[in-house]
Amino acid sequence: MSRMVSQVSPSETFAGRVLENLATPLAVLDDALHVHYLNPAAEDLFSVSARRLYRRPLESLILDVSPLEGIRRRMREARTPVTRREVRLSLAAGGTVVCDVMMGPLEDPDRPGLLLMELARRDHVARADRDVRLVEQQAILDKLLRGLAHEVKNPLGGLRGAAQLLEAELPNPALREYTQVIIREADRLQDLVDHILGPRRGLRRARVNVHEVLEHVRTLVAMDLPAGIHIERDYDPSVPELHLDRDQMVQALLNVVQNAVQVLEGDGHITLRTRIDRYVTLGPRTVRLALRIEVEDDGPGVPDTIRDEIFFPMVSGRAEGTGLGLSIAQTVINRHGGLIQCESEPGRTVFSILLPLDGGTDEEVNHGG
Ligand SMILES: Nc1ncnc2c1ncn2[C@@H]1O[C@H](COP(=O)(O)OP(=O)(O)O)[C@@H](O)[C@H]1O
Ligand SMILES: [Mg+2]
Repeated sequence: MSRMVSQVSPSETFAGRVLENLATPLAVLDDALHVHYLNPAAEDLFSVSARRLYRRPLESLILDVSPLEGIRRRMREARTPVTRREVRLSLAAGGTVVCDVMMGPLEDPDRPGLLLMELARRDHVARADRDVRLVEQQAILDKLLRGLAHEVKNPLGGLRGAAQLLEAELPNPALREYTQVIIREADRLQDLVDHILGPRRGLRRARVNVHEVLEHVRTLVAMDLPAGIHIERDYDPSVPELHLDRDQMVQALLNVVQNAVQVLEGDGHITLRTRIDRYVTLGPRTVRLALRIEVEDDGPGVPDTIRDEIFFPMVSGRAEGTGLGLSIAQTVINRHGGLIQCESEPGRTVFSILLPLDGGTDEEVNHGG
């Protein structure tokens, strides 16, 4: 592979091999910001092969290079490497990335005017921080709600019992209308509290094929699926079996998929997807491998007004909604040591469930080898 003009390809020298194995995307550019070299990490970032890009303008990789031109100007003025933090770059291959961009002159007597550009991705980091906060928030919220639910649960039984006794003693049967209201509302609250407390039993884990679970959910939903809604599957066949409570997982996934069906209002696409993610932060721990289950739909997106609250119980964007579906899904996923998140914009909403794969924790990496 000769990514550079020189006769010696980078992979043939020691320094070259270091470059080729560096995880940080690096590019060598000339003064006109034409590409002279990309290391493999940069090829990955831009989804291109450097060979095809030799001496092509940077615009063929990054749509708007003006922030980079600004950095280059500063670098030339200062004659030292210049770093600008958190630059948002729109990639020609699609999507945007946020990077700390470092540019420095590359002193090479044979080829003057070259510069080295280093791109340190920041969005990964921001995301990991956010994930940790999210898990902590979820845990606190869960504890608060469960405490509250327990407090409500006990007097509720007494309330209902008293209403029944009162009803039996009522001289005028017409008054039963009122005791019935008490009993009915007490039952409704009881349901709510039971939902918040979640399935009372602990997890009954067994080895489970996640694709089989997803297929089961799909069959359940398909039973009364409007003809205009299509469910597509995009499964990663390398996903191993997981240790899960199958019934609870079916419930969690069903809640998420049913929401998608409801927002599509009879017309649209839902995709069920599985992937393996590496080095995922799930609250306090980092797992080496995690399963990512995505439920994507092309519906209108989560309403802005409830975007930050959809996982809270009793938050609903639908008139006839209970607002419990996602809260239950979250409880189930958290109990499995996982995380559920949502990214949404009009036309594309993705609920992602991350679950640790067995034996994938860092602890085991360190101690078990
Ligand atoms: N795929 C989705 N697209 C848009 N909005 C969604 C989606 N899934 C959930 N929501 C929003 O989140 C709310 C809460 O969902 P959920 O907890 O299941 O309660 P419910 O379905 O009873 O309203 C929904 O009412 C809806 O407004
Ligand atoms: Mg729902």
